Amino acid sequence: RPPNLQMEEKWWLRRSDCRAKGGAPGFKVAILGAAGGIGQPLAMLMKMNPLVSVLHLYDVVNSPGVTADLSHMDTGAVVRGFLGQPQLESALTGMDLVIIPAGVPRKPGMTRDDLFKINAGIVRTLCEGVAKCCPNAVVNLISNPVNSTVPIAAEVFKKAGTYNPKKLLGVTTLDVARANTFVAEVLGIDPRDVNVPVVGGHAGVTILPLLSQVNPPSSFTPEEIAYLTDRIQNGGTEVVEAKAGTGSATLSMAYAAAKFADACLRGLRGDAGIVECSYVASQVTELPFFATKVRIGRQGIDEFLPLGPLNEFERAGLEKAKKELAESIQKGVSFINK
Ligand code: NAD
Ligand code: LMR
Repeated sequence: RPPNLQMEEKWWLRRSDCRAKGGAPGFKVAILGAAGGIGQPLAMLMKMNPLVSVLHLYDVVNSPGVTADLSHMDTGAVVRGFLGQPQLESALTGMDLVIIPAGVPRKPGMTRDDLFKINAGIVRTLCEGVAKCCPNAVVNLISNPVNSTVPIAAEVFKKAGTYNPKKLLGVTTLDVARANTFVAEVLGIDPRDVNVPVVGGHAGVTILPLLSQVNPPSSFTPEEIAYLTDRIQNGGTEVVEAKAGTGSATLSMAYAAAKFADACLRGLRGDAGIVECSYVASQVTELPFFATKVRIGRQGIDEFLPLGPLNEFERAGLEKAKKELAESIQKGVSFINK
């Protein structure tokens, strides 16, 4: 090995060893699909996260370049790159948190479900790797269609005998970020002061913003409710159309994924009161998977919070959402069990 790589290896081992002995706090995080539109800015944000001591970047293309680039940032996390299927196991071994944005994005005119054909297989392979190499890791699943890929991941883990529903979380944070932003615009306040619960799933009518539960408590006209609901449900399509064939949300998604991953790490560290919306295995409705607020703790999800009181408009939205969700869940489950 060239001298610079030998030195880097020694330095890395020394730092990992120091952290393993409890020297500095830190979690080991892997990003699968790290060279993509979401993966790159997400990798940068995770490299800046002081809770991360080791950052593994895996992709089937370009991960060495992204890794070399990020490794020059003078932040604490040590970055290692992994390229292609033969390196998947090394990328995953020992990880505490695995974030998965691998897969193709939408083009104008497509639904998220149109991505199923390609992304279902990608998610299956990656989750088989997780089950084998880091079965206790928390998984943050971003790849679309989330309404089906989370059930796919659950079935893969069940087959492997490693399924822990408290550690599999579909990332719906971008829906909450959009809801906070659009509601803040209507209220004329800072989006950082707004919290909108968004429940259900992550596609069209399954995205159910609970505007009756906005914090700070606010009231909206029927026109505002119709406008906000439509804009939040179609936020992804708004970006896909604006990007005109070059992809879907990447920067806002990387921001949202980094925020969610940080919440998971703080929960794993033992911080109290970490509550986020996420698409998870749930008993909050009769469906096996549903996005609601969950409390995250040392073992993953500590508590599934109830939906809370819904108004008539939201109850009607919930019925529509459940119908579509049931089909997407079934599609994911049968992909693995067919
Ligand atoms: P992208 O095409 O820019 O990047 C995807 C990356 O995945 C690429 O680098 C590609 O090489 C990699 N990849 C493909 N197959 C792989 C495999 N088998 N193993 C590892 N890596 C693999 O796409 P993007 O814009 O980053 O979007 C990625 C996914 O995230 C899409 O499915 C998109 O729909 C989804 N997405 C989800 C949300 C959400 O809110 N959950 C938001 C935005 C995008
Ligand atoms: C989003 O909500 O931006 C993502 O799910 C990407 C998409 O296809 O809309």
